[in-house]
Amino acid sequence: MTDIQRVRNDLKLSEKRMRHTEGVVRAAVLLASRHFPEISPETATLAALFHDYTKEYTVEQHLQVLASYGQTATADELTSPKLLHARTAALIAEKEYGLSPEIVSAIRWHTTGRENMEPLECVIYFADYIEDGRTFPACVRLRTYYEKQYASLKDKSRALNKALVRSFDITIRDLLSEGKTVDPNTVSARNSYLRCLK
Ligand SMILES: [Fe+2]
Ligand SMILES: [Fe+2]
Repeated sequence: MTDIQRVRNDLKLSEKRMRHTEGVVRAAVLLASRHFPEISPETATLAALFHDYTKEYTVEQHLQVLASYGQTATADELTSPKLLHARTAALIAEKEYGLSPEIVSAIRWHTTGRENMEPLECVIYFADYIEDGRTFPACVRLRTYYEKQYASLKDKSRALNKALVRSFDITIRDLLSEGKTVDPNTVSARNSYLRCLK
């Protein structure tokens, strides 16, 4: 059985979350082929399939996963439990499935992003944002913005970087307006892609 088949068999997600996951698979394969042809469709598929593996866990379940590997949650993760699923999914991908460090890292950073992301990290982070099942107006606008930049700019990596900056802007603005904490990785990610545009 391939890793892709094994993960497909093991994924226990609601129908809605599974539709999102399949959307991320399609978006990740497309983004990889457009911007990072060194990433195989199989690698993009596997990372995308796994990225929300623990998204529907309770906080208790997340803490159990962390504890079983001798880890604890940070204070910020406890106030924003959404952050926990990226960590626990990455841990399970590494320890239980033996997936490659490249894939584990893409899962680990898919929610917050981080400074100067590796190609697969970038693909999964952005695919998660713009997959075609996302109907939240800001996601729809970002998808349209990215497609316009991609179609009109000769420099395709610039098109992606512009869309990445915009994605971090949206996230940071939303978190501020909701009075939530902003993960420092999201801020340094935004600044690093903004520097790329100069
Ligand atoms: Fe996620
Ligand atoms: Fe997701």
